[in-house]
Amino acid sequence: MKLKIAVLPGDGIGPEIVAQALETAKAVCKKFRHELFYREALVGATAIDTVGNPYPAETHAICMDSDAVLFGAIGSPEYDNNPSAKVRPEQGLLAMRKQLGLYANIRPVTTFPSLIHKSPLRTDLVDGADFMCIRELTGGIYFGRPQGRSEDGETAYDTCVYTVEEIERIIRLAYGYALKRRKKLTVVDKANVLCTSRLWRQVAQKLEKEYPEVETEYMFVDNAAMQIIQWPKRFDVMVTENMFGDILTDEASVITGSLGMLPSASIGTHTSVFEPIHGSYPQATGKDIANPLATILSVALMFEYAFDLQAEAKAVRKAVDASLVEKIVTEDIAAGGKAYKTSEVGKWITDYLY
Ligand code: IPM
Ligand code: MG
Repeated sequence: MKLKIAVLPGDGIGPEIVAQALETAKAVCKKFRHELFYREALVGATAIDTVGNPYPAETHAICMDSDAVLFGAIGSPEYDNNPSAKVRPEQGLLAMRKQLGLYANIRPVTTFPSLIHKSPLRTDLVDGADFMCIRELTGGIYFGRPQGRSEDGETAYDTCVYTVEEIERIIRLAYGYALKRRKKLTVVDKANVLCTSRLWRQVAQKLEKEYPEVETEYMFVDNAAMQIIQWPKRFDVMVTENMFGDILTDEASVITGSLGMLPSASIGTHTSVFEPIHGSYPQATGKDIANPLATILSVALMFEYAFDLQAEAKAVRKAVDASLVEKIVTEDIAAGGKAYKTSEVGKWITDYLY
């Protein structure tokens, strides 16, 4: 098979972790006799510094012309602490999501037996936790207008907007996953306060009737935040709006023991994007210490979702599991043992695959 991918390393540790993930993809393609074609493109602060735009038209064209996008991370402290910056790296990510029509962000939350001890939660609570967060990605308060400041600068506002169509497509997608899994869907909202949430619930309650095999439950976001920590095993598929999903998925990552372990897939109407859920970790830039596993696991998701290559995805996960068992890991999960470099972990995994 011919696989054509766009590679967007981005900022901070992005280039280092993406380099390892790309090597993994190459190794898998070699092993399974696929042809991998890839093109690199600029995104984020790096793109602002080079061409003045965090998601340049050329990058978009390359993404549109590819079967999948492998994405690193964006964000830079230079912009974070400068509220008056005219253009921010994050706008690049949001523009990419909007322009590629990536309306669903899928974040599987699973545990790794060899890492359970790293979770701040009790082992019996997290051992075997396995759920999937589906976050709506192109609507809500991230994109709603108006957004801005009053003329005197004393008032600021953001607007949360959802249409029935946007809600329906994400809820249907979530039911699709629930049907393939343990057939339980938790719809997370704040319908006791927000108008948009009441529309979510109304739409979900209508669709619920079409999926009688799935048990549907409704939960307020504050309660969901608590239950994720209290009893994560109760969840199978969770679906929610953009900002609730942003917050809950970071929270859910602690179940795994490290933010450095969780991959994600963003899918929609054009090319899908695969990226780690963590950020650009600027303090570690160039030090060869960042954990490449979330990005390598994103490559597994890419094989699975973009190319329907299940054995290839499995091979990547098996290699990652093996590296954990052998303790060939970066400092964030080394737990006092030897800490390997980003590149050493990547190399071990490609060697394992060959
Ligand atoms: C994420 C990130 C982004 C978001 C930021 C970098 C804009 O936190 O992908 O979760 O808020 O969506
Ligand atoms: Mg986030």
